[in-house]
Amino acid sequence: MSVHFIGAGPGAADLITLRGRDLIAACPVCLYAGSLVPEALLAHCPDGARIVNTAPLSLDEIMAEIRAAHAAGQDVARLHSGDLSVWSAMGEQLRRLRAENIPYDVTPGVPSFAAAAAALGAELTLPGVAQSLVLTRTSGRASAMPERETLENFAATGATLAIHLSVHVLEDVVEQLTPHYGADCPVAVIWRATWPDQRIVKATLATLEEATGGERGRTALILVGHALGAENFDESCLYAGDYDRRFRPVGTSPRFPEDAS
Ligand SMILES: C[S@@+](CC[C@H](N)C(=O)[O-])C[C@H]1O[C@@H](n2cnc3c(N)ncnc32)[C@H](O)[C@@H]1O
Repeated sequence: MSVHFIGAGPGAADLITLRGRDLIAACPVCLYAGSLVPEALLAHCPDGARIVNTAPLSLDEIMAEIRAAHAAGQDVARLHSGDLSVWSAMGEQLRRLRAENIPYDVTPGVPSFAAAAAALGAELTLPGVAQSLVLTRTSGRASAMPERETLENFAATGATLAIHLSVHVLEDVVEQLTPHYGADCPVAVIWRATWPDQRIVKATLATLEEATGGERGRTALILVGHALGAENFDESCLYAGDYDRRFRPVGTSPRFPEDAS
């Protein structure tokens, strides 16, 4: 018996890995975080599966479900939205499973920042503009931010920011970022990326509040940085015709001659 943690992706039911889909189909028990996991994924569950929405459950109640499946020798598909490595509450579940010697594994999913960038058709790391992406959030009722993880500290680097769980404090975000990025810095808010009701607002830090028209629906990502919409950036050396590399040796004395065959 194993608990299979599966990243369910950002919303569209076909944005799950084949491995994740096959695990759902093989598990007689499915526990899913119903607030964001698309219900269409539950169609992959086998007939007669026990399917439980864990959104209204406490961690103790979720563990009771897992323990019951463990006692019955039944595999569990545990679905969380996006990818499990960020804001999934997987860590505390894994700690309890380790304490109880219940086996588990983890299958990654498409994170919402990647879905949002895809919706914009944007690369978030452009040569010479931004080479880092910070996945962050602002303080919430359930989770305070560690002292040094402030928007200002991240903004001071000029990296692209993907700000989660924060659209309800958009005004504060704009106020904290503007001194670092400048009022003309591009910003986008993507609500419910890949869901049928996806909505995108593109603006600058100066115009964002007006452009969103007061909409603050919670499932949204704020992407900020000069990489968004930039046209004036360097091409990467990787595909430059004169760039000698392992997979495309160039010149009479290539740097990787052993691979030149
Ligand atoms: C609890 S976190 C889950 C993050 C998830 N594990 C991931 O990989 O993206 C929920 C937050 O992620 C963002 N989010 C999740 N799904 C989204 C989507 N489809 N479109 C835009 N933002 C989304 C929002 O900021 C939302 O408040």
